[in-house]
Amino acid sequence: MSHKITLIPGEGIGPEIIKVAVDVLDAAGADIEWDIYEDSQNVTGIVESIKKNAVALKGPIATPIGDGYRSINVRLRKELDTYANIRPVKSFDGVHTPFKNVDIVTIRENLEDLYAGIEFKEGEEETQDLIDYIASIGNAKQPRIAVPRIGDDSGISIKSVSITASEHIAYFAFEYAQKYNRKKITAIHKANIIKFTDGLFLETARRIAQKYPEIEFEDIIVDAAAMGLVRNPQEFDVLLCPNLYGDILSDLCAGLVGGLGVAPSANMGEKYAIFEAVHGTAPAIAGQNKANPTALLLSAVMMLEYLEEQKIAQNIRHAVEKVIKKGKEVTSDLRLDKKVGVGTQEMGKAILNNL
Ligand code: NAI
Repeated sequence: MSHKITLIPGEGIGPEIIKVAVDVLDAAGADIEWDIYEDSQNVTGIVESIKKNAVALKGPIATPIGDGYRSINVRLRKELDTYANIRPVKSFDGVHTPFKNVDIVTIRENLEDLYAGIEFKEGEEETQDLIDYIASIGNAKQPRIAVPRIGDDSGISIKSVSITASEHIAYFAFEYAQKYNRKKITAIHKANIIKFTDGLFLETARRIAQKYPEIEFEDIIVDAAAMGLVRNPQEFDVLLCPNLYGDILSDLCAGLVGGLGVAPSANMGEKYAIFEAVHGTAPAIAGQNKANPTALLLSAVMMLEYLEEQKIAQNIRHAVEKVIKKGKEVTSDLRLDKKVGVGTQEMGKAILNNL
């Protein structure tokens, strides 16, 4: 079946790894007409294209640090309501890490929490007003909640968590677990300290869990989860996370199986799906044919599965696994012997030859 899909090469290493994905998908027989969007900064155009095509394959886009610049990635997720971020990691034969048999899927709430972008800069009038307001309501409500005055030289980032978004992501995680035959969901939180947001997330997850008695459910505090994941990653199956913890722990999980070069992801909502690598633009190696194309290619495999092209998806996944297992035609990030690996395009060709 033919599919029309928005293709966003993105920035930094984006165009190099996207080229590999397009070539491999083509060689594997995927019937795709790409709607190419080169201008990563044209959010309106990208959103329109994805609204038309419903599915996108995306390279990374840079977000300058600080100073009020809102991430284009976050805007795309928000405008297309892709509320679930799915980040699976699985050990590869041939990638030598201290961890064996890792198979974890992070399901991360994608739209709210500290990523909603509600921020107040230090020194601005609105920030001072907010500090004064919080002090005033805190005082009014004492002794029920003793709110210490926020320092006048503070910046403020708002963390908000709603029942609606927590329900969405919890249902998504349980439905995902059912569909893909996963056994256990672990909710990640810091509800002991952050009671009204993480507490609400946890309470909601517990409530939804009761509707899926066949799936084991547990919860764990985020710091203990970080420790547990590196001590005994085989104990974990699906992690259900609020936005920030999901972002951090999914990178940790990527590290367990070989790093960001092999970590794919999908952003999904009711109507639209965007598939992209977990990693960013990797400016230090951009334009040098050094980036590992695996993460994006496996994101494309997730896209093919979503499009119900299981056979082509499996074929590409096996080809990637074969090349990594042989360990010769892989990029430097996967060479344990510290020898220089092959280039991005050469690894792509090796995968293509193993289809
Ligand atoms: P990064 O993921 O780009 O790089 C982190 C480290 O991993 C670097 O050492 C990099 O060289 C390495 N790396 C990443 N991808 C690799 C690959 N395919 N093969 C081999 N090595 C790879 O993270 P960083 O440096 O924090 O972010 C750079 C830019 O990317 C920032 O502007 C950030 O906002 C943006 N970014 C965009 C994302 C997106 O578009 N979804 C996601 C994450 C970051």
